[in-house]
Amino acid sequence: MKDLVKKLVESYGPAGDEGPVRQMIEEEIKELADEVRVDALGNLIARKKGNGKGKKVMLAAHMDEIGIIVTSIDDKGFLRFAPVGGWSPPTLLGKRVIFANGTSGVIHTEHLDDIKELKVTKLFIDIGASDKATASENVGIGDMAVFYGPLFDMGERWVAKAMDDRIGCVVLIETLRQLGACDHDVYFVFTVQEEVGLRGARTAAYGVDPEIGIACDVTRVGDTPKSHIMEVSLGGGAAIKVKDSSLICHPALRKHLVEIAKENKIPYQLEVLERGGTDAAAMQLSRAGIIAGVISVPCRYIHSPSEMVDAGDVKACVDLLVQSLKGSMVLQ
Ligand code: CO
Ligand code: ZN
Repeated sequence: MKDLVKKLVESYGPAGDEGPVRQMIEEEIKELADEVRVDALGNLIARKKGNGKGKKVMLAAHMDEIGIIVTSIDDKGFLRFAPVGGWSPPTLLGKRVIFANGTSGVIHTEHLDDIKELKVTKLFIDIGASDKATASENVGIGDMAVFYGPLFDMGERWVAKAMDDRIGCVVLIETLRQLGACDHDVYFVFTVQEEVGLRGARTAAYGVDPEIGIACDVTRVGDTPKSHIMEVSLGGGAAIKVKDSSLICHPALRKHLVEIAKENKIPYQLEVLERGGTDAAAMQLSRAGIIAGVISVPCRYIHSPSEMVDAGDVKACVDLLVQSLKGSMVLQ
């Protein structure tokens, strides 16, 4: 599983430009699914057919990652940019970014008398060009870049950019691999544009029209020094979401997931995330409404180039999803 994590987190795929990572995931799953298609927005939808006795279930993990988009190039070849998805300016200082064509750059700031003046508008990217003409040979207005950096393998813990939500993509791929025959008609959907407003999940859910939707995404933790109070910790197991700022998970589905975890002795924790959303919110409000929930991978330092997850938690999420799908999915 580690090799797959490394491959996916190191690949390029900001919101709206997920082609490279989609291709990689398609390679991994095409032999495992009964049908694979890509919709107009770019969602990758893989179906594992049921036997007609089960439910229609949609699983969603987003392929896109946060990044930046070039807004202008000055005479000296420095790039100005805007965010793609959410990040805070201090996170970007001194960081390296990479464009789809391999062009690399470093982010720095104008002179500031006070660090409090640090805003996106003060930042620029230096791609090593000496003037506008040379810079424009490699980068144009509207080009996107993502954080650059290899996976740090710390043994049980892994650090990389884009764990949000390539680790969810890994959970879905592993689930598809381990599932075997099952009653339910399961759609494994690798969504686009989550980071800019859950857009891919919305059209995918409409198209698939499932009875139950489960998203797999990262969630915050409350276990680092003087962090915001939150009862989720790294290494504490799969997080079963109760609520975030985008949805309240369907109570029957949430209870069902807790029961499956208990029965199978899968480590789990309950999650209340005060700020943040997931694809499950878009699924829940699709058409006349869908029963939706979330299995989250606890993650430190979300939306930075160094997002950290725990291997045991990832395994717990896979186990929970596999065991849920092997069961009846009758919710009460
Ligand atoms: Co995110
Ligand atoms: Zn995410």
